[in-house]
Amino acid sequence: MVQRILVIEASHNYEETGSRYISRRVQERFEKKYSDAIIVCHDLAKNPPPHLSGTMLHVMTNPQLELDESQQKAIELSDKFCDELLSSDILLISMPMWNWGVPSAVKAWIDHIVRPQKTFHYTKEGIKGHINHARAVVVVSTGAVYSNGPLKGMDHTSSYMHGLLTALGFERVDIIYLEGTKIDPETSLKNAEEDVERLEL
Ligand SMILES: Cc1cc2nc3c(=O)[nH]c(=O)nc-3n(C[C@H](O)[C@H](O)[C@H](O)COP(=O)(O)O)c2cc1C
Repeated sequence: MVQRILVIEASHNYEETGSRYISRRVQERFEKKYSDAIIVCHDLAKNPPPHLSGTMLHVMTNPQLELDESQQKAIELSDKFCDELLSSDILLISMPMWNWGVPSAVKAWIDHIVRPQKTFHYTKEGIKGHINHARAVVVVSTGAVYSNGPLKGMDHTSSYMHGLLTALGFERVDIIYLEGTKIDPETSLKNAEEDVERLEL
């Protein structure tokens, strides 16, 4: 039963062409299927999370600490992001590739949600994520093409997001590519729209 959907968007492009547009198409499909679900959205382009401060890191890496008022305040946003993630059944996150990786605002959000004892813990085998029975859909737009050709292997955006979300415990991670937007934007958009329609809900 899908009760909560967390939507994270990171592009500065609000036109009907980019990762936001494709993400909205996915969101519409989810909304149609799970009409009672609560949707929580964050626009990381408009509201980029701050980089981690020394106080935040101290609190994050010492989960047993009794927090004073300033520590409590410093960790509030991270707590909120973690709670949203842990209570969601679906994460829909979209972003452009920036310099072969994720935009820095997405990385800042990730730094807030990857927290020992809260969203994962270490085991002898590696790390165990605390996300249970949730799925994620990641929309990645790229100027060039990475699925084949000379840049194959250089997509550190979708591979990073897939690895990270799987490590946190997501049972299923689907990636929708909007690739080659700077080379052949029409084909890129058409292929991504077809992938949205094909996405198994
Ligand atoms: C700062 C910046 C860095 C970028 N780096 C890359 C890159 O490394 N590889 C690439 O293929 N495209 C790169 N691009 C192009 C975008 O990924 C591409 O235009 C994408 O379609 C934008 O998606 P959006 O419309 O969802 O924002 C970059 C664009 C910007 C603004």
